[in-house]
Amino acid sequence: MKITILYFSQTGHTEKMAGVVREGILDADKNIEVSLMNIADQENINQEFLEASSAVIFGTPCYVANTCWQMKKFFDTRFDCKLEGKLAACFATAGCLWGGPDIALQSILGMALTRGMLAYSSGTEFGRPYIHLGPVALMASLDEQAGIFKLFGNRVAQKTLELFNK
Ligand SMILES: Cc1cc2nc3c(=O)[nH]c(=O)nc-3n(C[C@H](O)[C@H](O)[C@H](O)COP(=O)(O)O)c2cc1C
Repeated sequence: MKITILYFSQTGHTEKMAGVVREGILDADKNIEVSLMNIADQENINQEFLEASSAVIFGTPCYVANTCWQMKKFFDTRFDCKLEGKLAACFATAGCLWGGPDIALQSILGMALTRGMLAYSSGTEFGRPYIHLGPVALMASLDEQAGIFKLFGNRVAQKTLELFNK
């Protein structure tokens, strides 16, 4: 089983948290193949791996109270990457709590639904701590949120195995 973590990261915060999500996925099953793709460089998009993935976890920095334009551009332009039927989940990093990271997550979930993906965060399914739209880490305290990001990766992987490991 394959899972892609597709993210944009300019200064490394989102990339760092993508690595933590990956750890959580591997804790669920070390045989899951995980690929991290930073769309800052289009060449990092391994279309073959992406299309073979059962789930795609999107990571975004919060830009101007929304997802970054690079992520919007990916959804708007890369129709050659077939996302339909895959599980979609997302996480964000941001400068401050009131800077709009929830809006960034909602934007991604909306775009994923539009591309025929199955949106998932784990929500209340596994009990507390609930993961509402997806985890958010503030840039000044990334390490403080590592636990919830790892849990998020773990739960998304468990759901992916349940749905697609037939
Ligand atoms: C152009 C730009 C716009 C930003 N706008 C916001 C914002 O509206 N709200 C916020 O909380 N943080 C904002 N930030 C801070 C980033 O979300 C934060 O630094 C993020 O962790 C950067 O991720 P990266 O290191 O993976 O590139 C902005 C940063 C940049 C560069």
